[in-house]
Amino acid sequence: METKDRKVGLAIFGLGRAGSIHFKNIIANYRTPLKWIVEDDLDKAHRAVKKYFLDETRVADSKDITPVLEDNSVDAVVVCTPTHTHEQIVRAALKAGKSVFCEKPIAGTIESTQSCYDDAEKFNKALYCAFNRRFDPAVRNVYQRVKADEIGQVQQIKTISRDAPLPPLSYLKISGGIFHDCIVHDLDMICWIVGETPSTVYAQAHCFNADIAAMDDVDTVAVVLKFPCGALGQIDISRHAVYGYDQRLEVFGSKGMLETSNTRPCEVSSHGNAGTKQDNIHASFEQRYDHSYKLELEHFLDVVTGVESRCEITRHDTMQASMLAEACEQSYRQGKPIKIVDGKMVYS
Ligand SMILES: NC(=O)c1ccc[n+]([C@@H]2O[C@H](COP(=O)([O-])OP(=O)(O)OC[C@H]3O[C@@H](n4cnc5c(N)ncnc54)[C@H](O)[C@@H]3O)[C@@H](O)[C@H]2O)c1
Repeated sequence: METKDRKVGLAIFGLGRAGSIHFKNIIANYRTPLKWIVEDDLDKAHRAVKKYFLDETRVADSKDITPVLEDNSVDAVVVCTPTHTHEQIVRAALKAGKSVFCEKPIAGTIESTQSCYDDAEKFNKALYCAFNRRFDPAVRNVYQRVKADEIGQVQQIKTISRDAPLPPLSYLKISGGIFHDCIVHDLDMICWIVGETPSTVYAQAHCFNADIAAMDDVDTVAVVLKFPCGALGQIDISRHAVYGYDQRLEVFGSKGMLETSNTRPCEVSSHGNAGTKQDNIHASFEQRYDHSYKLELEHFLDVVTGVESRCEITRHDTMQASMLAEACEQSYRQGKPIKIVDGKMVYS
């Protein structure tokens, strides 16, 4: 049965910031009976089961996931654990015949990401990398209108991605760094819209936060990309915007310009003697990208059930975003532009 009515038994790994979003979407979705929660923090998992009356959901200790992998009612796993744990879970799940939805990035290095995709091909299972921004209705609308040639030749494309609130330091320590943790989203989105791999990347960065600097990471980055078609990309990133989660996209072309603005919990503005008032922009990714998380889950389920023949985010896309994140980091660390030839970084 290749219809949207087919149920997809799921196990979710990790109920942290990202996992909680996917967890709530899974339990609200009629297509996805949640069979297992796997957590390091067992109390957290049991509390979730109790709070949401999940009579059919079992809890597994992350130290022994064999019962989850051996459970034939589990068709797919959703991996929302810290990035350094992804590879092991993803490969074990694929080997056990489960499809995998994995939070970005799939793995910490290009080689380990490669191994995950090799396994997905070997075991003929879907491996979806959660570049959720592609499923944001505004971002997708821009993509479709660029592809429909509404603004002609793309000449400049810019993203502003400023995080809020500042992620916990415990997370930042194991995040993989701002290039692989944050900029990877912008790189994927820009390449998707332009439809090319950049030929050169150049990054400058600084760290204003002493705690982050002590981790040999940075909190503020500017990236410039040059594409073979001539288009220039610019990424403006910060780990912390005090006024909310600032996410903007602009594409400038020969026939016009498309832009997306920040969104707010309530879009009504009031104008009076005291001036103009409107809600603050959304506080964080959970609210801003709410739709995208639901839509990417639907897409994954469509792939697993055969409603869609192809995963929207391909092996090539994930490998490209990881390689470019690494190129941007190397550009910043070496203080020079990095050339990209045939999908690989070229050091001079
Ligand atoms: N797409 C997005 O918008 C988005 C947003 C935030 C985080 N992420 C990604 O999600 C992943 C998790 O990030 P987070 O911010 O949710 O982290 P987090 O620290 O908030 O949560 C991680 C959770 O995983 C649990 N855990 C740790 N090791 C585990 C294991 N081996 N098995 C099962 N559970 C385990 C922890 O107890 C914790 O509850 C990262 O890869 C990150 O890049 C994506």
